[in-house]
Order: sequence, then structure tokens, then C-alpha cells
Amino acid sequence: MTGTGTTDANGADVNGAGACTAVAHPNIALVKYWGKRDAARQLPATGSLSLTLGIAPTTTTVELDPAADADYGTLNGAEMAGKDLDRVRRFLDLVRERTAAACGTTADGLPKARVTSVNEIPTGAGLASSASGFAALTLAAAGGYGLELDDAQASALARRGSGSACRSIFGGLVEWLPGDDDASSHAVALPDSGLELALVVAVLSPGRKKIDSRAAMARTVETSPYFPAWKELVPGDIARMKEAIAAADFTAVGELAEANAMRMHASMLGAFPPVRYWTPDSVRALDLVVTLREERGVECYATMDAGPNVKILCRPADAPAVEAAFREEFPGIDVLVSGHGPGARVVR
Ligand code: PMV
Repeated sequence: MTGTGTTDANGADVNGAGACTAVAHPNIALVKYWGKRDAARQLPATGSLSLTLGIAPTTTTVELDPAADADYGTLNGAEMAGKDLDRVRRFLDLVRERTAAACGTTADGLPKARVTSVNEIPTGAGLASSASGFAALTLAAAGGYGLELDDAQASALARRGSGSACRSIFGGLVEWLPGDDDASSHAVALPDSGLELALVVAVLSPGRKKIDSRAAMARTVETSPYFPAWKELVPGDIARMKEAIAAADFTAVGELAEANAMRMHASMLGAFPPVRYWTPDSVRALDLVVTLREERGVECYATMDAGPNVKILCRPADAPAVEAAFREEFPGIDVLVSGHGPGARVVR
């Protein structure tokens, strides 16, 4: 990951920096990440395991702007503002700190940047836009500032932007190793066992969710009597999920993924005040998954994240039947179908 070979306005050596564009895909967890043990460093309470999708990528360009006195940019064509902009600025501060440490300069001597980011998936609706967003921003910012990172370092850095983003650095099935410090908490790609999964995303409600995952997680950790049980459960789920993946046992993968997602939501429902992302349509979608599986011979399983949308895990050959059933039950909604997707990459 190298930049275009310029110095900044102050003549500081920024190790070959300039502009860089990167692409990353969303990922959906089969064993969820829910709860941090260190909020400042974004260290998770447990590991997690996910599938990187092959659809709806984020494309992000970072261009150093020596004339700017603060980072700025656009998200889906609109000027970034408020919380979104603060989060991007904090992340770029971290990239500048790392760059400065690597080239023996000070972060203040490095220019600010312009960020242009486009998500092909609705932002902030529990559809993993922050995962693809911060994975793409990590590679684009590292490229822009000329910060050299291997995949594990890129993953650990992406984690600081949004926890789940560390998994989108890698393609296919991915495990986030919780680690015990900033460097050791990163994702790794799981070996390919030949298991082919498809994920159908029913976009029941593309709007921005009322409570973001960061706040909802914190409330669950602080107030839910079920959080300790959740934290205890996850390592076993990861071990069982890895065994099921290694054995290419789709049924075991699906059953575990569905149960894990429901238990994550149970932990949130136990928070005070409760965190509930489900809508009546979410419940209808969960019912449809059961009907497909039990009455129509289409083996599929549901998972949900921090939003009302339902994602359905199935074998690739069954994806058209799942898609058709959701389009029939929910006329007019977007239904996206994905297989395994690639890891994040620099495109120019
Ligand atoms: O996107 P983050 O890092 O705030 O975490 C979201 C967590 C879930 O999507 C609910 C679960 C997961 O593991 O992706």
C-alpha cells in the first residue's frame, strides 16, 4: 500500500503520500460481535466469525489536502457532518499518528484529507455499511498517507474505526481474534473448506436506525443481566462454527448462526431501557424463513444485526427460491443476493 510519492505543504516526508482509492465489501456475522471490553481501543468482549459478501461495496478515496485545516468529505454525495464526520476525523487522526510514528515526524505536520465515500448499501440500517466503510477508509487512508500495513495490521487499524470493519479486510469466511491489546485484536481468513454459502438480504427498512450499534452495545454491556451469559456462550459457538465450516456441514452452520443471532438480540432485549431493533416486518420475515424451511423444503436460516432487516443464509442453489419468496411476501422491497466476496483492496 503506497501512495503517489509527494511531500506535504510543509515539506514533511510523508513517505510517498497523495491520493488513494480502496474498495471493501460488507460482512455479515454468523457468530456475532456484541459488546466491548475496552471501548477506547475497541477491544471486543469475545471473538466473532463472519462472511464477507460479494455485493454492495464501499468505494472510498482519500486525498491529502495541504490547504485544509480539518478533514472533510462526502458520503454518498452529501457533505459529511455531525457524528459521521467526527468519527472519520478521529480515525484519520489515528492514521496520522501511526504514519508520524513510522516516519519519525509529528502527526501535526501531516496534512488533513478529503474523503469521498460511496456505499452501495443503505447507510446505518444494520446492513454492515460501517464495516465496508471503515475497511475501505483504512486502506485508502493508509495509501494516501503512505503508511505501510500488512493485512493483520490493516485489520487491527480498521477495528478502531468500527469493530466489524476488521473482518472486511479479508474475503470469504473470517474470524476476528479478540486479542488482548491493540495489535493482537484483528481478523484472519479461515481456510477454505469448500463450503459455499449464499446470503439473501431482505431490505425491509432502509432507513437509518434509531440507536447505533455502539450505543446499543454499551447499554447491553452495562445493564443487561443476560450479557454475562452471552459473553460466556460465544467462544463455544465460535469453536462449533469452525468445526461445522471445516466439515462443510451447512445445516450445522445455519442452525448455529440463527441461534447465535437470536441470543444476541435476547441480550439486547434485556438491557435497560431495552434495545429492540425488530419491527412487525422483521417477525414476518423470520416466520417466512421457518415456513420455507419446514413446509417448502428450502433449507434456510435467519440472522439479524443492529437493525430490523433480516438476512437469510442458504445454499447457493436455493438462493433464487428464497429471493422469490421474499419478493412475493414483501412486494417492492430490495432483495440482495450474495455469495462469498473478496477482501478489501486498493484500486488506484
Ligand atoms: O458495526 P459495529 O462494529 O458497530 O458492530 C456491529 C455488530 C453487529 O453487526 C450487530 C454484529 C456483528 O458481529 O457484525
